[in-house]
Amino acid sequence: MKELSVSHLLGIKYLTTEDIELIFETADHFKEVINRPIKKVPSLRDITIANLFFENSTRTRLSFELAEKRLSADVVNFSAASSSVKKGETLIDTVNNILAMKVDMVVMRHPNPGAGIFLSKHVNARIVNAGDGAHEHPTQALLDAYSIRESLGSVAGKKVAIVGDILHSRVALSNIFALKKLGAEVMLCGPKTLIPKHVESLGVRYEPSLEKTIQWCDAVNMLRVQNERMSMSYFPTTREYAQQYGLTLDHLKALDKQIVVMHPGPINRGVEITSEVADSPQAIILDQVQNGVAIRMAVIYLLAAKIK
Ligand code: NCD
Repeated sequence: MKELSVSHLLGIKYLTTEDIELIFETADHFKEVINRPIKKVPSLRDITIANLFFENSTRTRLSFELAEKRLSADVVNFSAASSSVKKGETLIDTVNNILAMKVDMVVMRHPNPGAGIFLSKHVNARIVNAGDGAHEHPTQALLDAYSIRESLGSVAGKKVAIVGDILHSRVALSNIFALKKLGAEVMLCGPKTLIPKHVESLGVRYEPSLEKTIQWCDAVNMLRVQNERMSMSYFPTTREYAQQYGLTLDHLKALDKQIVVMHPGPINRGVEITSEVADSPQAIILDQVQNGVAIRMAVIYLLAAKIK
């Protein structure tokens, strides 16, 4: 059986192209499983997984939990709001306590970049990064690239634009790594203040105009403005942002081609994307959500194979 080159999923940065392809092939199988009347396989009956969420999440937490349950793993959930973290416990202590309960795998979302990497060095369990601050969100990038492959037939050779708040987005960084590894061309678009310096060193281009960006691309990934990560103002007003960088039906109608529209959620309707676009047939936002479960099943299944 083919194996991942890594024992944890900490970031796309650490995966090989072969790893990503193996995850996609495995997800193809699980996508078929979750569309059957009985959506479950007994593969991970002997595995216990803890979902540790130190930051808010709806989609990602539910998606991981569903993926784990569809693989028949035992699942325990923890969220920081209701935990002893508020009483001053350290990350290592929290996790060691959970591991003492014989947990095999930890899926963790944490506000600090590198939290997953730190954990993987100190605890004896497989770690899956479900988002670490503004650093990486590897399963989101995998499901995004998988959804592009499904819509456009492949990722290699395709032109993908990422629009919006790149500076504060872990989705953007993980997407850039994944798309480049799979051979896509990547363009970033957004107000200059929300584009990190030296992005060219990641092998991507920057284009300030949304109109030019969508003329260029085959697929566009619209990102949310991460207000909760901002300590200062990066653009004049939300209205002005929406005027310059919000994707509208008029934008799509003005093109002489059909582009695929993506969004990782949560959507701010009327800001980065209008309702008409979010609900249009070109938007694959809910397909991304469905693919997320298959991708997470694949990641967990492949990492569990490394436990024995
Ligand atoms: C993203 C996240 O949390 O990084 N959402 C998600 O996981 N689907 C993006 C966001 O919050 O805008």
